[in-house]
Amino acid sequence: MKKMLIKNIGILATAEGRQARRGAEQGKIRLYKNAWILLEDDEIAEIGTGKYQYQNDFDGEVLDAEGRLVTPGLVDAHTHLVFGGWRQNELGLKMHGVSYLEILANGGGILSTVENTREASLEELMDKAEKALDEMLKFGTTTCEAKSGYGLNLEHELKQLKVVRELNRRHPIDLISTFLGAHAIPVDYKKEREEFIRQICEDMIPIIAEEKLAQFCDVFCETGVFTVEEARRILETGKKYGLIPKIHADEIEAIGGSQLAGNIGAISAEHLIVCPLEGIEQMAKGGTIACLLPATSFYLGANYAPAREMIQRGVPVAMATDFNPGSCPCLNLQLVINLGCLKYRMTPEEVLTAVTLNAAAAIGVADRIGTIEIGKKGDLIIWEAPDLDYICYRLGSDLVRNVVKAGKKIR
Ligand code: NIG
Ligand code: FE
Repeated sequence: MKKMLIKNIGILATAEGRQARRGAEQGKIRLYKNAWILLEDDEIAEIGTGKYQYQNDFDGEVLDAEGRLVTPGLVDAHTHLVFGGWRQNELGLKMHGVSYLEILANGGGILSTVENTREASLEELMDKAEKALDEMLKFGTTTCEAKSGYGLNLEHELKQLKVVRELNRRHPIDLISTFLGAHAIPVDYKKEREEFIRQICEDMIPIIAEEKLAQFCDVFCETGVFTVEEARRILETGKKYGLIPKIHADEIEAIGGSQLAGNIGAISAEHLIVCPLEGIEQMAKGGTIACLLPATSFYLGANYAPAREMIQRGVPVAMATDFNPGSCPCLNLQLVINLGCLKYRMTPEEVLTAVTLNAAAAIGVADRIGTIEIGKKGDLIIWEAPDLDYICYRLGSDLVRNVVKAGKKIR
C-alpha cells in the first residue's frame, strides 16, 4: 500500500458530509489547526492534530505543508471543456454593443463554435481539451464536469463525449460527462426545430444513454434558444433513459427555467443570473442545487445571481467556471472564489463549500469527493496561504502550492 503523510498543516479547512449543504449549514466549515492527514493509496485514511504519532519512522512519502492552509481539491461543476477554435473576434463586437444573443441569432456565438468543433478531429479536440485540463489542475481543480453541445448532431455530439471519456482515462482530473445536445438550434434546423428536438429525444439520448457516454442531460433554456416546454420534454426524455436533468436557466431572461428545474427535480440549475423569487422557491422545494457562474457574469458584463437570497431560502449554492469559448474563456476557479465573495457577498466559508462539497453534489459525486474526511478520495490542495480568508482576498495570483490528486502529488 502507498502511503503519504501531509504534516505541519497550519489550518485544514473543509466542509463535511456527503450531501449538499444549504442555508446556514453552507457556511459551517470544520477547521483543524496544526493538523496532519494520512493518505493510503488514493484515500484519506486518518486526520489528526499535533504531531502524527508514528511520524519519526513513517515509511511513506512525506509532504510538509510548513504551516500553510489545506483544503479539498476544487470541483468545477460546469464547463464546456471540449470545443474547436476560440471566439476572440466576438470581443470587438461586444465592445460595439452587439449582445450575446444577437451574435447567436446571426449565426455566430455557439453556432460558430459548432462549425469549428465539427471540423476538428477527435484527436485535435482531445489535445486541446487536455491542455485546458493541465492548466485547470495547476489552478487546483481535481474534478471537472464537461458538457457536449458543440456538435448538435449525433456524430459530433458522440465525438465530443468520446473525447471526455478518453480524457477521463488518461488525465489525472476526474471528468463527469453531461449531454447538452440542446445547446442551440443548428442553422439548418432554424425552420425545423421540431425535427431537431425529435433527433435529440429519439436519436441522440437513447444511444448516449446506452453507451454510458453521459450521466446528465442539460438544456439551454433561454429566449431564442429552447423554451420551457421544449426543455421539459427533452429533460423528461433524458430521465426515462437514466440521464439526470440539469438546466441552463435564467441566464439572460427569466422565462421559467428555474421553476422547471425545481419542478422536475433537476439536480442543478445553472447561471440563474436573473432568477426570480418563484424560481428560488421551486428550487428549494425540489432540492435543486444552484450552480452559479460569477466569471460569466463578469465576462458578459451582466448582473450577479442572487446568491444570498438563495442561501437564505435554503437552496444549496455551488459555483463553477463555465469554461467555454464564448461567454467565459476562463478555467481558473480561484477567480470564481474571489467573485463569490466580492460579488455574491458570500463568506469565505460559504464559498469554500460552493467550490467543493456543493459542487461535488451538483455532479453527483459528493459521496466520494468534496471534503477532507476519512474514506473520501485523497484530493487536496496545499495553498500558498495561511488561512481561508487569504485565498478569497488576494486577487490575480495563482495561490496553489501543491495539488494532491487521488493520493499522488501532482504539482
Ligand atoms: O453556459 N449559455 C449557454 N452556454 C454557454 C456558453 C456557450 C458559448 O457561448 O459557447 C454558457 O454560458
Ligand atoms: Fe454553460
